[in-house]
Amino acid sequence: MPVGNDIQDRIARYIDDAIAIEASQVTGLKDMISEANDPQDAALFQQHLTQTERQKERLEARLHALGGSSNKIKDFINKIGVAATDVLHGGKDAGDKATRNIIQAYAMKNLEIAMYESLAAAATEAGDTETATLAKEIQAEEEATAKKLFPRISPLAKQAVITGVQS
Ligand SMILES: [Fe+2]
Repeated sequence: MPVGNDIQDRIARYIDDAIAIEASQVTGLKDMISEANDPQDAALFQQHLTQTERQKERLEARLHALGGSSNKIKDFINKIGVAATDVLHGGKDAGDKATRNIIQAYAMKNLEIAMYESLAAAATEAGDTETATLAKEIQAEEEATAKKLFPRISPLAKQAVITGVQS
């Protein structure tokens, strides 16, 4: 298929979206680290934060290589994510908050898995194998992180009940 500026602009736009999604999680993850009651969760969120910052840098480098630059407002998705999970759990106590945070982190990973699937497919179609490879690499990291987050949901939800009974 013909490769023109329109196609390259589209891929650059998708990469910029991905940068915004990665950037939007930085503040939220820092809050999650400080709010975690269990050191295991704090370590998991810290690992997740380091990975997110690195992914953002890799995407920025790729966008730069394509001749683009990132100019989105970075925190809008975070606001959407927070609003959605605030409906779930008001974060009334520390137990609620811990459960809400793990749900939010897991939800964001799955949003990213889907987003990188679309970026990889669009980049492949556009003949941009470098972007497609980057998208697949980052997607694998998101999947690995989601797999680590999921098993923490149930213990945190149970812990909220146990702590609630004790207090
Ligand atoms: Fe990410």
